[in-house]
Amino acid sequence: MIIPRRSGMPKFVTPPEEVNWEELIELDKKYFLRPISTAKEYSPLPIARTEGPYLITSENVKILDFMSVLHCANAGAYHPKIAQAIKEYADHFGYLYEGGFLEQMRPKVCKFLIEEAFKGDMARVGFGNSGSEAVEYALMIARVYTGKPYVVTRWYDYHGWTAGAVANTIIPYLRDLAITPTKPGEVPEIKTPVGGIVPYTAIAPPPHCYRCPIGHTYPDCKDRKGMLACINVLKELILAHQPYVAAVITEVVQGSCGVFAPPPEYNPQLRQITKELGVLWIDDEVICGFGRTGPWFGYQNWDIKPDIVTFAKGVTGSHIPVGGVAISPELAKWFDERKWWHASTFASHPLGMAAAYAALTVYKEEKLIPDHAKKIGKRLEEGLKGIKDRHKSVGNVSGMGLIWGIELVKNKETKEPIFPQDRFYFWHEEAVKIPSKVVAVKCIERRLLVSTFAANNITLMPTLVVTEDEVDRAIDILDKAIEEVDKMV
Ligand SMILES: Cc1ncc(COP(=O)(O)O)c(C=O)c1O
Repeated sequence: MIIPRRSGMPKFVTPPEEVNWEELIELDKKYFLRPISTAKEYSPLPIARTEGPYLITSENVKILDFMSVLHCANAGAYHPKIAQAIKEYADHFGYLYEGGFLEQMRPKVCKFLIEEAFKGDMARVGFGNSGSEAVEYALMIARVYTGKPYVVTRWYDYHGWTAGAVANTIIPYLRDLAITPTKPGEVPEIKTPVGGIVPYTAIAPPPHCYRCPIGHTYPDCKDRKGMLACINVLKELILAHQPYVAAVITEVVQGSCGVFAPPPEYNPQLRQITKELGVLWIDDEVICGFGRTGPWFGYQNWDIKPDIVTFAKGVTGSHIPVGGVAISPELAKWFDERKWWHASTFASHPLGMAAAYAALTVYKEEKLIPDHAKKIGKRLEEGLKGIKDRHKSVGNVSGMGLIWGIELVKNKETKEPIFPQDRFYFWHEEAVKIPSKVVAVKCIERRLLVSTFAANNITLMPTLVVTEDEVDRAIDILDKAIEEVDKMV
């Protein structure tokens, strides 16, 4: 039987003007297994389509997205060239397994990543389907290579939700959620460090200078050799667990638990100490990669090179789920000489590779990375500094490039947080009391989307396709929204 290929295919998508959103919302509420909100709280925003840096609702309202949807749509939630590349490749492939077969996109993606994005710092790339899987892959590589079990992570780090990744995610409510679901109004009981499910994790202090968790004040925290106090603690922690430490995993700018950037010395000193102690550095670039901090990867802001890099989100502009790892030339040589095991059905999926190649080409040809990202980053930084000066409730702004956090406080002098649980709170419907939510609601009323993963911290991560005018508009909207919090303090 001859199956007609492209003609006479059923149409799966209802034309936008005929969509019954009320009915769809009801169906969704009835059947979708919802994370994060209770059934009562659940109220998704119906989006009819996406366009560059805008989400367009079912009522045709255009929302300027300063969250890159989930810190991932670096080229905008719809980029025509990426969409076109996927459509064209879908005419040739529905699926192919990476282990035994080769299509034309993967080698091109690998070449681009190694030669242009990593500039030769890394030698091999491998793929998976998400950031969490990328982290699992990196942990496996570190443990296989060193033959050691321990990984050092940091307070406030987010590395994903699969077993290995969540073991290195140190946000109490997130780790605790796995075992202690909460009802509205309940604060999850915190079990530290979640007993038996997290072996081989050691937790270092983060470089959160605004509220140093080990009681220091930057730059007075430096010792006679100029080493930061938090780096000295990290060093002691590694020594205390030696000879069993495989790696330290960090982000160059902590992203998911309310952004804060480290002081300039932090990442170079982290690299220095890991080298001195013979421990690998896994640089988790799931958020910081692909222009988020300006250059292709966050580590490129300093004269340092990781041993292992994880990436996801921006590699395809999030048009198709792809994650992956890259390893240094030294590790590549070791792995080239051995047989080892990693398997994932969908890794290097042809459509993912087509999306990745298109996204990387868009970043390069449209000069989004590094030129536009750096220009927009400067504009955003200037705007945010103005916001800090103008508002009595803004204690700090911290970040770099296109990843920023605004810290809301009761009192600028004492830095007292407005919402006492601060970063240790999993919000419920009483969100009206939470400063970051107050701002987010006011922003969405004026058609700006910002993210609010921590109670007192507004996170801004615009797409790389925003213009300077759009940055100015966002700053203006934020300015007005933060006035609401000024009234609360
Ligand atoms: C730094 C970092 N690593 C890993 C992950 C996990 O990625 P995914 O949600 O794709 O599994 C995230 C997700 O936000 C992340 O921010």
